[in-house]
Amino acid sequence: MQILDGKLAAQHTKDTLKKEVDEIIAAGKRAPHLAAILVGNNGASETYVASKVKNCTEIGFASTLIRLGEDSSEATLLQEIEKLNNDDAVDGILVQLPLPKHISEQKVTESVNPLKDVDGFHPISAGKLVLGLPTFISATPYGIMLLLEHYNIPTRGKHAVVIGRSNIVGRPMSILLSSNHPHGNCTVTLCHSHTQNLKELCQRADILVAALGKPEFVTADMVKEGAVVIDVGITRVPDSTAKRGYVIKGDVAFNGVAPKTSFITPVPGGVGLMTIAGLLKNTLQAYRTRQQ
Ligand SMILES: NC(=O)c1ccc[n+]([C@@H]2O[C@H](COP(=O)([O-])OP(=O)(O)OC[C@H]3O[C@@H](n4cnc5c(N)ncnc54)[C@H](OP(=O)(O)O)[C@@H]3O)[C@@H](O)[C@H]2O)c1
Repeated sequence: MQILDGKLAAQHTKDTLKKEVDEIIAAGKRAPHLAAILVGNNGASETYVASKVKNCTEIGFASTLIRLGEDSSEATLLQEIEKLNNDDAVDGILVQLPLPKHISEQKVTESVNPLKDVDGFHPISAGKLVLGLPTFISATPYGIMLLLEHYNIPTRGKHAVVIGRSNIVGRPMSILLSSNHPHGNCTVTLCHSHTQNLKELCQRADILVAALGKPEFVTADMVKEGAVVIDVGITRVPDSTAKRGYVIKGDVAFNGVAPKTSFITPVPGGVGLMTIAGLLKNTLQAYRTRQQ
């Protein structure tokens, strides 16, 4: 069993990006610029956005964080997005999800200029992904593909099972793994809460991606000997003995599953860090496209 180390692979991506940014700056041009909007005070979202901003700084990107109160109206948020859409100095826009319930995520997602849609959530980005056209790939599945590439995991002809069909993780993941490119060409089974015989399907997976948000859902008896297991889940589970009052759990019961696998991602230290790598790559791509 080998750990797929997200920290190591993300650092590799970041080092490459930093070199590119250094060259841009040395040529007298401005740095790529990511703008993030955070609405409300969701603890997990605060952590994610802070980490994204920190990573931008590390590789020389400019970044802006716009904070709006929990009670901010949808109209206020849409106005902020419009300002960023029209700001020539901003290359990428991300609106941290989830949003407060009174704001339509769909409306917000569709209001981001597709040329700056570095989260890859806009219907134009999603549509291009389905058609196999160049686009911004949703950051988490993109990060997973970068991880598979980094560790040179063979995918061609393999049976991949993806648990979870959300628009931001499971569905784009299934499309990427089934696409005709060097790290795709899998035969993919996409599972969800109505799937029957989930355990049997998982047992037939050469590559198993768990993205359902149910802590330690995937147990050893669901995993084939030698499988590659990618754990996307991040859930804060209350734990009074932990310093912060909670522990982070993935969707895979790591201790039981790991010995059966050929490769497995840990949580934390796996997919989460690769998601940021995907986002940063998308931002540089947005910058280059807009510069042209
Ligand atoms: N590491 C990262 O960077 C990163 C990024 C994004 C998300 N995440 C984490 O990944 C997890 C999934 O996120 P998400 O946004 O995709 O979640 P989501 O929107 O809640 O989607 C969950 C999916 O799992 C399916 N599901 C739920 N229970 C199931 C079950 N018992 N059997 C089979 N399928 C089941 C649901 O099926 P239905 O469609 O039928 O309801 C749904 O498609 C969460 O823990 C989230 O925090 C991590």
